Amino acid sequence: MNLLAATAAKDVAIDLLPALREAGAAAPGPTAAIGGLSIRSLSKSHQLKGEAMEVLQGIDLEIQPGEFVALVGASGCGKTTLLRILLGLERDFTGTVEQDGAAITGPGLERGIVFQEHRLLPWLTVEQNVAFGLGGRVKDKQKVRARVRHYLDLVGLYGFDAAYPAQLSGGMAQRAAIARALINQPRVLLLDEPLGALDALTRLRMQKELEEIWRREKVTALLVTHDIEEAIYLADRVIVLSPRPGRIKREIPVPLSRPRDRDSSGFIDIKDQLLAEFQLQAERHFYYTI
Ligand SMILES: Nc1ncnc2c1ncn2[C@@H]1O[C@H](COP(=O)(O)OP(=O)(O)OP(=O)(O)O)[C@@H](O)[C@H]1O
Ligand SMILES: [Mg+2]
Repeated sequence: MNLLAATAAKDVAIDLLPALREAGAAAPGPTAAIGGLSIRSLSKSHQLKGEAMEVLQGIDLEIQPGEFVALVGASGCGKTTLLRILLGLERDFTGTVEQDGAAITGPGLERGIVFQEHRLLPWLTVEQNVAFGLGGRVKDKQKVRARVRHYLDLVGLYGFDAAYPAQLSGGMAQRAAIARALINQPRVLLLDEPLGALDALTRLRMQKELEEIWRREKVTALLVTHDIEEAIYLADRVIVLSPRPGRIKREIPVPLSRPRDRDSSGFIDIKDQLLAEFQLQAERHFYYTI
């Protein structure tokens, strides 16, 4: 590990886009149109002090293969619970949840997840952490190495394979977590406030990078965020959930060309619509997170 390089990269955020362009030549390539999600009449309760508390109520949502959907809503309205159901971690719910027509009954390689905190194992290097995502399924060490390198390149961590998580900046650690989520080439990427812990400038940069990764990997993305601008910048469609129990209150399409201009009238118009959902319309210039 080149500590000097690591320190420099902490101070000067890496511009990932050239690395992504280079990585493109070796990308596994787009697959057929798979990665569609179908959620029908989904309701979910959690047990709290022995009583059932309804967290999600009657969610109906169809997400097309390759679509980028953002989910916004007040804290506690069930966003993480919904992602956990889609990942296959929760089974005690009513309604149906399918990926490409098959019921989601447990975690599977077709879905990857990134959380707000990177959850890298501190005693493993970046390379080992990303390879960990493979779960030992690929036996050939050369193949593992090549695949890990490909995804480290894709997320702009070229040269940091031997670093430990403690030697990375917050943004770099999140990139490693994204690489770990992509290593199995899932068709669905679930993102639970993946940029929430980053400083404002790194976050803007990472939004750009996330869009590029989504575009290159042709993956279906479902992003939970409290940042309204982030939702509009990234998503084809923004879903607004009501406060608990979470119900779909509104769907707002984002028919703007990419990369999006945050100062464009179209962007500002959608932002106003979303802020109105959270009764923040008068404070547009001051607040954009909910
Ligand atoms: N395992 C659990 N047992 C009991 N209650 C739970 C459990 N997990 C979540 N809850 C409750 O379910 C509700 C929804 O939680 P969830 O984490 O899905 O919200 P969220 O929309 O992701 O919130 P935030 O924006 O703060 O992350 C909360 O009231 C929470 O206390
Ligand atoms: Mg949450």
